[in-house]
Amino acid sequence: MKKDIAGKREIHLLVDAFYEKVKKDDIIGFIFTDIARVNWEQHLPVMYDFWDNVLFQTGDYSGNPMVTHAQLHHRFPLTGEHFTRWKKLFLETIEEHFEGPNAELARQRALSIATVMEIKISGR
Ligand code: HEM
Repeated sequence: MKKDIAGKREIHLLVDAFYEKVKKDDIIGFIFTDIARVNWEQHLPVMYDFWDNVLFQTGDYSGNPMVTHAQLHHRFPLTGEHFTRWKKLFLETIEEHFEGPNAELARQRALSIATVMEIKISGR
């Protein structure tokens, strides 16, 4: 049976599994690997803190993803197709590993943050 996202252990699994999909993805993978040339050793801990904070209000994340993605968009335009794929991969990852109230919360937060981000960066 699938378990809920209870804390750091599950957050690490969620983030790691998500980026394994992202890196292989034909629509958004290259944005991470070739355009932004993400340093995974640095990026993954930031993402653990981000999701830990989103789900459990740890206060460990102090970045501004809206600014980060607006800057990325300036270098390489992020389209509706990119966001649709990001959401698909993230929701698939949750679905494959977890179920429960926190899994549902992660699903909803991912969708709402992605929607706000897409609207903000596209200037709509
Ligand atoms: C089209 C969809 C997206 C793409 C292509 C994308 C790509 C990226 C890339 C390349 C970075 C690394 C930037 C860098 O360090 O140079 C990044 C950082 C990040 N992304 Fe995304 N992203 C997308 C959507 C999202 C969404 C929907 C969320 C949140 C739900 C999110 C959360 C973050 C966070 C928290 C960071 C770290 C920002 C920081 O350094 O504080 N991303 N993203």
